[in-house]
Amino acid sequence: MKKTIDPWNIGGFENYQMLLDEFGMESMEKFRLEYDELRYIRRGIIFGHRDFGNISDSIGKKKPFALMTGLMPSGAMHFGHKMVADEIIWFQKKGAEIFVCAADVESYLMRDVSFEQAREIAVKEYLENYLALGLSPKNLTFWFQSDYLPEYYRLRDMASKRVTFNELKAIYGELTPGKITSVLTQVADIVHPQLPELGGPRSVVVPVGADQDPHIRLTRDIASRLNAKREGNKQDLKCVPPSATYHKFMEGLQGGKMSSSDPKSFIALSDDPKEASKKIMRAKTGGRPTVEEQKKKGGVPEECMIYSMYLYHLIDDDIALSDIYHECRNGTLLCGEDKKNCAELVEKFLVKHQKKKAKAAKIAAKLVSR
Ligand code: TRP
Repeated sequence: MKKTIDPWNIGGFENYQMLLDEFGMESMEKFRLEYDELRYIRRGIIFGHRDFGNISDSIGKKKPFALMTGLMPSGAMHFGHKMVADEIIWFQKKGAEIFVCAADVESYLMRDVSFEQAREIAVKEYLENYLALGLSPKNLTFWFQSDYLPEYYRLRDMASKRVTFNELKAIYGELTPGKITSVLTQVADIVHPQLPELGGPRSVVVPVGADQDPHIRLTRDIASRLNAKREGNKQDLKCVPPSATYHKFMEGLQGGKMSSSDPKSFIALSDDPKEASKKIMRAKTGGRPTVEEQKKKGGVPEECMIYSMYLYHLIDDDIALSDIYHECRNGTLLCGEDKKNCAELVEKFLVKHQKKKAKAAKIAAKLVSR
């Protein structure tokens, strides 16, 4: 049977190489040097892409391009989710027009979150955090899947008409009506920045976790079939197949999956800084059973959740990071001290961030009141 990826259930999804080998995703290696200013690209955390060449070209030639991505408002925004926020902000600085969708239809259908709850989570947890992290409200469209433009819903209908049930089954395996609606809505999310009403055909980059690739593949297929008469609309539609970047997932603080339903597995951006620091002190490390053994053999940063917090978020300076790596490896830096340093960094970050978030609340409210 052909392999499929289930974007709603990615238990222990780690086989990134398989995505490159079997699903036609391309390696990000080629762009690593050119875009090394973004930590996630420099460190290979953004490991794959589709058609990133289009985006690179737009950045290089200063041609208009857009970024579109979405969030599923089902729980707290944690450090795993922060990656996408940082990516959006970086692309915005590179000149992208930004489209961010709160996938409240998807969270209603797939996670049983009410529309009211989803709205609250999307604004308080996500939008305010994005703004606090540095997203500019200029050039930003933020919307809810359940409450948007008529043209967007017509686009979803057009997408529905241009795909067969067998194609969907080949991509997703098992399907439910809720999945089908979520998927077709996401196709509209990704394509709609290219509607004539919203800026017309141009390159659009979709930064996502690797689990979202099935949606990207489907959207790219459908996009090529949309270049046709737009039923019921004055202007025809033309669109460029969307580009995507794919990042790896952070593991949970205790090892295993970082999961919104298990608060011990993550640090939320809204966690009390002191509580967050305690979570760090309890995190899984790559340490040995005894201090003696660790001094002799050294620790294993590759298996350490503290190291992964540095790698993904807390230490941007490669030399500082490499120092820690080697001190751990050669047994001079022990886990207790390392955790304490990390806990301090997290605490400081959260205190500062939460002040910014409080200030962002007004701007967020204004953005969604339109
Ligand atoms: N399905 C995404 C998730 O589970 C959310 C989402 C909805 C999205 N629409 C999107 C992501 C468009 C990227 C592009 O998180």
